[in-house]
Amino acid sequence: MDKVRIRGGNRLVGKIPVSGAKNAALPLMAASLLTSAPLTLMNVPALADIESMCSLLTGLGTTVGDQNGAMGTELVLQNLNITNTEAPYDVVRKMRASVLVLGPLLARAGRARVSLPGGCAIGNRPVDLHLKGLQELGATVELTRGYIEAHTGPGGRLRGAKIAFPTVSVGATENLMMAASLADGETVLINAAREPEIVDLADCLIAMGARIEGHGTDTIHIWGREALCGARYQVVPDRIEIGTYAIAACITGGELELVGARAGLLETVFDTLSETGASISETGSGIKVSGPEGRPRGVDVMTEPYPGFPTDLQAQMMAYMTRAEGASMITESIFENRFMHVPELSRMGANITVHQASALVRGVEHLTGAPVMATDLRASVSLVLAGLAAVGETNINRIYHLDRGYERLVGKLRDCGAIIERVAENGSARNQVA
Ligand code: UD1
Repeated sequence: MDKVRIRGGNRLVGKIPVSGAKNAALPLMAASLLTSAPLTLMNVPALADIESMCSLLTGLGTTVGDQNGAMGTELVLQNLNITNTEAPYDVVRKMRASVLVLGPLLARAGRARVSLPGGCAIGNRPVDLHLKGLQELGATVELTRGYIEAHTGPGGRLRGAKIAFPTVSVGATENLMMAASLADGETVLINAAREPEIVDLADCLIAMGARIEGHGTDTIHIWGREALCGARYQVVPDRIEIGTYAIAACITGGELELVGARAGLLETVFDTLSETGASISETGSGIKVSGPEGRPRGVDVMTEPYPGFPTDLQAQMMAYMTRAEGASMITESIFENRFMHVPELSRMGANITVHQASALVRGVEHLTGAPVMATDLRASVSLVLAGLAAVGETNINRIYHLDRGYERLVGKLRDCGAIIERVAENGSARNQVA
């Protein structure tokens, strides 16, 4: 299996183009099941998770075309007829976002059989809120032999309802927004997620003819239509990729312009980075991030639903804070088991103590390179960031996680002066800049 080899210590300077958001593109692709007309998505990132979603949709009868457009890869998805309503275990186990086909399948085909996602490296991650919401829309839902089996009532159509979420869930909000857009009558989602990816999905559904109001707030109204049409839609820039490269600039004391980035997508993150001593400014084409001179100031961070500090940037922020002047308390409030990067950062010389949902990071003068590996996407990239700042060589194993979520990571960093390469198991450098 390939690994990533980094020789740390170089300041990163240059421009990095921001890709489309994986976490927006996946639900948008699932939304293509809601219509028989083609949905064209622009600015779709080339990632393993996108390929997994393509193969899942193909199995449901969707034809998938891709072409190079002015805005990166364009995907054309069309499902004339849902020929199969099952999302099998082998696909769902690799990518939890597969569960996003549940709402669209039920709404359009009247039935769905989707493997239960099960646990993952960052926690238990149930889907009870998705299922409960669909039941409130009139679906019958059963759990049988590891599968969710759901169908609509005799009329074949879901019916609008008022659904109050006890906790904020991005995926449940997305699944229910899609299902409700073909339901009979009005649906109100209360305590809905407000992430930019939710807004992106709502805007795409509106372009497909749906009537939705309140997206971006905690109360979303959806008036169901009998049918939706096709659309052309551009995926929002990836705020987690933006935040990751912003931290890459900070941790190496460098200066990066993130081309295509929008400050409004991650204000809390930029405020936090400014507190550490970084400077952030808008340019005509994106955002420029300059790292602090010397070591950063330690700041406390708590992950929260949007617009709070994103859990998907917690590991990267922790890598940065390992070099802080002083201490930083990092509290994870979204997932119960998201500190898998701590032992690996510690092996690189970090001083971190975890107590329940909080990690106390006492800054050290420098990290030292080491062989490391991680068990999830964001933890893996936090080790890349640590490796960029560490003295000596870091080898990161199990990099298939990085391929799931960061388009051309090695190439983008190398273009800005990082000494980084992808190495095959036999030790030879790969030509491609994954
Ligand atoms: C999405 C993102 C993921 C991000 C997360 C939180 C995608 C593809 N993934 O994941 O990168 O880390 O949002 O910002 O967009 N929960 C329940 N029951 C449910 C659903 C969720 O208890 O039915 C809990 C989860 O266990 C978690 C919390 O709610 O503790 C938030 O999870 P959720 O927002 O649903 O995350 P995902 O949509 O899976």
